[in-house]
Amino acid sequence: MGVSPPYTIHRGVATMENKGRIEDIRRLGRSDLEVTSVGLGVWQWGDTSFWTFGKDFDRKDIDQVWWRNLEAGVNFIDTAEIYGKGASERIVGELLEDTEQDLVIASKLYPEKDSVEEIRKAVEGSLERLGIDYIDLYQVHWWPPKMPISGVMEELDAVVREGLVRYIGVSNFSIEQLEEAQSHLEHTEIVSNQVHYSLLHRDPETEGLVEHHRKNGIAIIAYSPLEQGILTGKFTPDGPPGGFRAKKPRFSPDGLRAVQPVLEALDEAARAHGKTMAQASLAWLLKDPNVVVIPGAKNLRQLEENVGGVDWQLTDAELASIEDAYRAYSERY
Ligand SMILES: NC(=O)c1ccc[n+]([C@@H]2O[C@H](COP(=O)([O-])OP(=O)(O)OC[C@H]3O[C@@H](n4cnc5c(N)ncnc54)[C@H](OP(=O)(O)O)[C@@H]3O)[C@@H](O)[C@H]2O)c1
Repeated sequence: MGVSPPYTIHRGVATMENKGRIEDIRRLGRSDLEVTSVGLGVWQWGDTSFWTFGKDFDRKDIDQVWWRNLEAGVNFIDTAEIYGKGASERIVGELLEDTEQDLVIASKLYPEKDSVEEIRKAVEGSLERLGIDYIDLYQVHWWPPKMPISGVMEELDAVVREGLVRYIGVSNFSIEQLEEAQSHLEHTEIVSNQVHYSLLHRDPETEGLVEHHRKNGIAIIAYSPLEQGILTGKFTPDGPPGGFRAKKPRFSPDGLRAVQPVLEALDEAARAHGKTMAQASLAWLLKDPNVVVIPGAKNLRQLEENVGGVDWQLTDAELASIEDAYRAYSERY
């Protein structure tokens, strides 16, 4: 497998045609990747354990989500080698076969590798499952626990040089880790950091990441932007989710009771604009032009709601009221 620059297949470059209904296009860091501010996270696809693929949603739902998503103009898809043990990439690959639009495809290296050869194999495996000649954005899923970061980044530098990957991103990296990783890249630079960031999860702010990345031209790709469903308002102390989420304190009846005032403030603001809580949560993140969001969707209804979340803004007064409620919540929780 392999392709010589300058890239004969036009995936990865946003065009006027594929802007569609979402007009808010953002450049990822200092790359030339132009993505819709709302992308689509596809961890759910093929994942039977955490997200119960095959039980409460199936391939038919995924097909509907894909085509409606493209119709709405979303051009940014985020998958990973580890999602569904390759199933997510495989499904995206099948859908890409029939897709004409230019898309920006992001995937991730499962970083528990022992050798440079394994990294190379991982890149080739993702390319094969996705059925494409290069990956637009290849992210290190988290800090590699076994191999020195120098070896990982040097190999990624090589795959960029060879045209198998266009840009490198990281995920779940601190500022220090990102700087260390960058120091081992010679021919390219890290364009994004994919981190857990939502109205209820502010570590990227408290750790200084938001400010540092804005100043240094590194995009933030916000994952779990709906806090895995909490910010849609659908879970209550009497109706928490089942499965893996139930094990997290935030999803316990106490956690869900504590968050209700934040959800009420969010709901009031959303209603004033004829929007939903999910949409207001995405708008809350997108107020920062250096951020893009990648909500996951299991079915058409969720997708429809999530892609309707842009092209409007919360007012200063609404932001302040949401913030007051969040401050009170974060002191107790
Ligand atoms: N880099 C990383 O380490 C990392 C970690 C996590 C996620 N990610 C990426 O980020 C993407 C999104 O994160 P996430 O899936 O953890 O969380 P999320 O986007 O906050 O939540 C997605 C889940 O919330 C529910 N949902 C979505 N839209 C909804 C709506 N409009 N109304 C009601 N419920 C809705 C669905 O689950 P239910 O229907 O089951 O409630 C869906 O699976 C993932 O797909 C993945 O690409 C990356």
